[in-house]
Amino acid sequence: LADPRVLPEELLASPLALAHAGEQAEGLTLPLDLFGTARRNSAGVDITCLAQRAPLEAAIALAQVPAVPLADAAAVSAAMATLHAGFDGWNDRPLADRAAVLERAADALEARLPEFCGLLVVEARKTLGDCVAEVREAVDFCRYYAQQARTRLAEQELPGPTGERNTLRLHGRGVFVCISPWNFPLAIFTGQVVAALVAGNSVAAKPAEQTPGVAQRMVDLLHEAGVPADALVLLHGPGETVGAALVADPRTAGVCFTGSTAVARHINRALAAKDGPIVPLIAETGGLNAMLVDSTALPEQVVDAVVQSAFRSAGQRCSALRLLCVHESIADGLLEMLAGAMRELRVGDPARLDTDVGPLIDAEAHAGIAAQVQRLRGEARLIAETPAPQALPDTQTPVAFELQHIGQLSSEIFGPVLHVVRWGGAPEDVVRQVNALGYGLTFGLQTRIDSRAERLAHQARIGNVYVNRNTIGAVVGVQPFGGEGLSGTGPKAGGPHYLYRFCAEQTLTVNT
Ligand code: NAD
Ligand code: ALA
Repeated sequence: LADPRVLPEELLASPLALAHAGEQAEGLTLPLDLFGTARRNSAGVDITCLAQRAPLEAAIALAQVPAVPLADAAAVSAAMATLHAGFDGWNDRPLADRAAVLERAADALEARLPEFCGLLVVEARKTLGDCVAEVREAVDFCRYYAQQARTRLAEQELPGPTGERNTLRLHGRGVFVCISPWNFPLAIFTGQVVAALVAGNSVAAKPAEQTPGVAQRMVDLLHEAGVPADALVLLHGPGETVGAALVADPRTAGVCFTGSTAVARHINRALAAKDGPIVPLIAETGGLNAMLVDSTALPEQVVDAVVQSAFRSAGQRCSALRLLCVHESIADGLLEMLAGAMRELRVGDPARLDTDVGPLIDAEAHAGIAAQVQRLRGEARLIAETPAPQALPDTQTPVAFELQHIGQLSSEIFGPVLHVVRWGGAPEDVVRQVNALGYGLTFGLQTRIDSRAERLAHQARIGNVYVNRNTIGAVVGVQPFGGEGLSGTGPKAGGPHYLYRFCAEQTLTVNT
């Protein structure tokens, strides 16, 4: 079986069917999420993943990262010409047709879940559990934006006193450039592209250099689902050349970017320096995410939430916890429990179902994080470090350091590195200091005082606030995701306002 798309039939059974098989095996009930995709059993275990162990392991063995062509300046210009010419045809298609294409893509992706998981493990080095969640998130984005487009982007009559017929209509803006990061190479890539498409835009997609194969397969799938070749073109290559050329192109009508704050600033400046129309930028960027724990919090719940938030996906999530602020009265006991939990984490091969923390994306990322950890060893107190069974390539084991104060933290370390500070006094002062960091992506509150949680959440200038749980894994359509300040422009991905930013509006007034 040389081609990973040709899997034996039993491996292609739908995730839901396989999940039900798992349910029977476990004898547990299986709630469905909003989009009909199975997620967890009543004990909170990701049962789909368990049920799919065999097909997933087979898919990893078969996974082959496709070779991709690198674009140059001429290829960028040719693609923009194609997409500029293709825009009207796609934008003129009925909204229901464009939405139906997304739904076909969702079905196809769901059916090919094992194959995409295999590719994600091999190319993005994600753990198997993370891969299953990521494919499902991409499926959810397709279904959610299709559903949202049907209801929110439809033409509206606006009755009023003018005696005329007034209609509000939305349409695509033109060629949208979508630039995405490597840490969610399927879900974020797909979410950006399908949102821009369903709103009527043609799309130039530029995935991260580290994960071109996942993007290539997804674009092939979208074309097979009915997106015309002149409405979606994928361009591979370095951000500094291919990404920058797409941003600079005079035909670019909008940019949707997810990645670092530094690159978002660069793109913003490049767009501002252009002549011609003002080009909107949607930027979702990094975070310096904190969790505040007061003396009433449940320690077991806190430790579980911290371990998930700081170390899952090897800390390579924009939503990941970087700063734990613990009330001084409970700090010693809590940090001892945290150290115990960290010792239990399993670091290793991402293809194994029992691995908690896999390697970092590449050797360059590893070198950068290892240097930061080395610096922290000299400046801060080591609280705990997960032991690794042997030296593993490009792997940073989870590590936690205690700092003297929040001001010692300045920029995002994109790996499994947790900073801890103790606080006394008023929790409002902690939130003030967190706000002063300038990022605003995720924030955790651990308290059993409801009025305090409500007050502090209101005070936090932060996009996603989680109370008494972890701070990762926002669910499409239920927990719209995105930050403010240095963490992004909004609107939130997977939320009801997202599609509007991809549209232009027209008011049609007819004197009847
Ligand atoms: P990055 O900013 O280095 O790269 C992101 C994308 O931008 C890549 O495709 C890259 O090729 C491209 N790029 C780089 N320079 C460019 C330029 N000058 N012009 C145009 N495009 C350019 O980020 P990364 O390392 O891929 O991803 C990790 C970062 O992304 C972290 O900071 C993380 O917090 C952030 N992130 C944010 C979210 C969110 O939703 N807020 C989600 C995931 C990741
Ligand atoms: N949406 C991703 C999360 O919430 C980044 O973890």
